Amino acid sequence: MPLNITIIGSSDRQLEELLRGQDIRVKSLPMGDLLALAQQATTQPDVVVLDLRDTHALPPTLSTLRRQHPTTGVVIVAARLDPVLMLEAMRAGITEWVTNPVSSADLVAAVERVSSTRSAGVQGQIFAFVGAKGGVGTTTLAVNVAAALARLAAERTLFVDLHMSYGDAAVFFGAEPRFSVVDAIENTHRLDEAFFDSLVVNTKSRVHLLASADRATHGADLGRVGTLLHFAAAHYRYTFLDVPRSEASALDALEAVSKIVIVANQELATVRNAGRRATALRQRYGKDRIRVVLTRYDKQAEISQEDVERVIGLGVKHAVPSDYRAALQALNKGRPLALDAGNRLSDAFTSIASDLSGVRPETAADAPKAGSIFGRITGRR
Ligand SMILES: Nc1ncnc2c1ncn2[C@@H]1O[C@H](COP(=O)(O)OP(=O)(O)O)[C@@H](O)[C@H]1O
Ligand SMILES: [Mg+2]
Repeated sequence: MPLNITIIGSSDRQLEELLRGQDIRVKSLPMGDLLALAQQATTQPDVVVLDLRDTHALPPTLSTLRRQHPTTGVVIVAARLDPVLMLEAMRAGITEWVTNPVSSADLVAAVERVSSTRSAGVQGQIFAFVGAKGGVGTTTLAVNVAAALARLAAERTLFVDLHMSYGDAAVFFGAEPRFSVVDAIENTHRLDEAFFDSLVVNTKSRVHLLASADRATHGADLGRVGTLLHFAAAHYRYTFLDVPRSEASALDALEAVSKIVIVANQELATVRNAGRRATALRQRYGKDRIRVVLTRYDKQAEISQEDVERVIGLGVKHAVPSDYRAALQALNKGRPLALDAGNRLSDAFTSIASDLSGVRPETAADAPKAGSIFGRITGRR
């Protein structure tokens, strides 16, 4: 199959000539057409070559393109390596740059690198979980919804603990990782399938885990999270993120994320924080991508679900019941509750998994419940 390349925003006719070759089709569009290209329904080229030599700034519509079409490769042509511009691009998951003087060899090599990532071909969804406050139950929720979805959909599922140090997703999964997210972040230039496989652990929930480091880490460049997410979305159908609340740069890197789940409970301070957080995230990433989940939900609590909705300005679609004993037991055993049907929490996790992914429980791979009569008849359990 020929490689389709669209050059955007270039006044340099020669760029087309540099790319033209056997099995390569090139066309050029003005910068103003980037928005149309970014629309969900627009058929994508394999690679977009974005010429920024005249503008020196990332066009805002680029993030729309990345979001709608995470597997379209992007190569930037720039006058020089501008650190501010590079950081911004990295956040959007763009790592390929060619600078003046542009040679055909460099340009073709960059195009080939991004198109080979693309050919891995999955258009994965990414779900980010952010707590309104520490200790609300964010990690519990994220881990269990990931386990529930891996069970529901039987698709490749990844969990990334974005706490660079001492995050505890591994404990929840009962896993003992040797490598961490820091190894991935520090080596974004050599991310490929084999390398990535060596960094993750396959947990008993059938979720691959890229865990937090078990040591203090200083200055891991969170600007590269975008690149990591882009890779994840190309190789996993679903990626879950446990996002540190206090790390502004991690919250800044969520451009490629499909849904952001704000986790709150019915405590006054948490609800207030959730309100602030929701406003900021909504402005940045749009209302449609934000979900609010109440956890450790208590119907009798003084602050009701409606109160929470009023403060946050968004509907609360899901509430996870409170069951401290079950939650603690699962944590101590390192076995997510979502793996076992028949507790009050696992149904809530499954319905959140279904809502985020669009996979309906009844059409799911494991719809007949383990041990049900149907399961025994069909031999599926
Ligand atoms: N639905 C729940 N019901 C009762 N206790 C819960 C629930 N979810 C979490 N917990 C408990 O709350 C504590 C904090 O959970 P954790 O997920 O680590 O929070 P966070 O990631 O927000 O700091 C843990 O002891 C956990 O067992
Ligand atoms: Mg946590």
